[in-house]
Amino acid sequence: MQTTFSVEHIRKDFPILQRRVRNDRPLVYLDNAATTQKPVQVINAISDFYTNHNSNIHRAVYALAEEATEAFEEVRDKVARFIGIKDRQEIVFVRGTTEAINLVAYAWGRQNIASGDIIMTTEYEHHSNIVPWQLLAKERGARLEYIGMDDQGTLILDHLDRYLQTGRVKLVTVSHMSNVLGTITDVDTIIKKCKNAGVRVLIDGAQSVPHMKVNVQELGCDFFAFSAHKMLGPTGVGVLWAKKELLEAMAPFHGGGDMIREVHKYETTWNDLPYKFEAGTPNIADVIGFSAAIDYLEKIGMDFVRKHEIELTKYALEKLSSIKGLKIYGTPDLSRRGGVISFNFADIHPHDLATIIDEDGVAIRSGHHCAQVLMERLDVAATSRASFYIYNTKDEIDVLVSSLNRAARVFKL
Ligand code: ALA
Repeated sequence: MQTTFSVEHIRKDFPILQRRVRNDRPLVYLDNAATTQKPVQVINAISDFYTNHNSNIHRAVYALAEEATEAFEEVRDKVARFIGIKDRQEIVFVRGTTEAINLVAYAWGRQNIASGDIIMTTEYEHHSNIVPWQLLAKERGARLEYIGMDDQGTLILDHLDRYLQTGRVKLVTVSHMSNVLGTITDVDTIIKKCKNAGVRVLIDGAQSVPHMKVNVQELGCDFFAFSAHKMLGPTGVGVLWAKKELLEAMAPFHGGGDMIREVHKYETTWNDLPYKFEAGTPNIADVIGFSAAIDYLEKIGMDFVRKHEIELTKYALEKLSSIKGLKIYGTPDLSRRGGVISFNFADIHPHDLATIIDEDGVAIRSGHHCAQVLMERLDVAATSRASFYIYNTKDEIDVLVSSLNRAARVFKL
């Protein structure tokens, strides 16, 4: 593993970063919390699969089918190693974090959540970690409750303690890092408290795994979910990890090919793990593309990814704080924050602001960021959000800042 990396060198691997966008400006891509760009290694891996190896997996015995099956299954081993898991049977490929959480809500939730039970989440969750639990709670007559946060976006764990004391909490489901505030959740403390109380824990790692070293085994949670497309990989691929005994006890989520052992007219038996949860033809080419994304990140090293993002976030927070009328959300503590900065600028609507700065080639997200419960808590309809990754530079943050200053002139602030 190399010990230093040059962003300049990395940028050359991303064809899209050479693009010019509006008004012939160089693209400044700062919407990495939504999805990341893809290096040529990932693009080539997908192209190579379709050009040279394309076939379905787990079925036929001819050469291409064997090659494809082997390549696909190797990715499972790689993913397990990348997140510190020893047992490959615990790695389930899904479409993304959203599907992983829905799988748990459906398959585990229906068997384990009963009337009067409490499911706990937090005020800064993505809709994908709220709506499946609302659906489940309504169906089962259970309650969904929230761990609140303080004004800096740090969870108030007393709320969790209070609910745990009722003895009714069955599951705590939290994001490892907020996609809006960048808050890194103190999952160690949450998992410890829940373990002591015999409560299951699901961690939504969609925003953490791409940006820092995560060892799921060491965390000690029960379920962990993340997506390939937020870590240089393709869209439509995600991972659910769960403890084997939980996956074994859970009923299937989807029925179809590959998830069965024997199908008779009125009865079916299930395939071994993880195939019991992988019905139908999976996203083979994109799983193989994901493999190249993991190789890329491993080559750079996750410690360096995190270090680079801390530097960018520190620089951006300093620069953005100097703009009069700009309100930044979230904690200033860089040890508890990832490379995501949400802000509002005076009374400019975030969509108007994003449109103005898009004229300078700067891509940021504006809106509720699939976190309307958080928007309510912050008492805003929307925010603007800049989010960073390995290929972003301080120069790009300077472009964002000068574009925001231009917006101030346009809106006569
Ligand atoms: N979860 C993605 C975001 O935060 C879509 O923008």
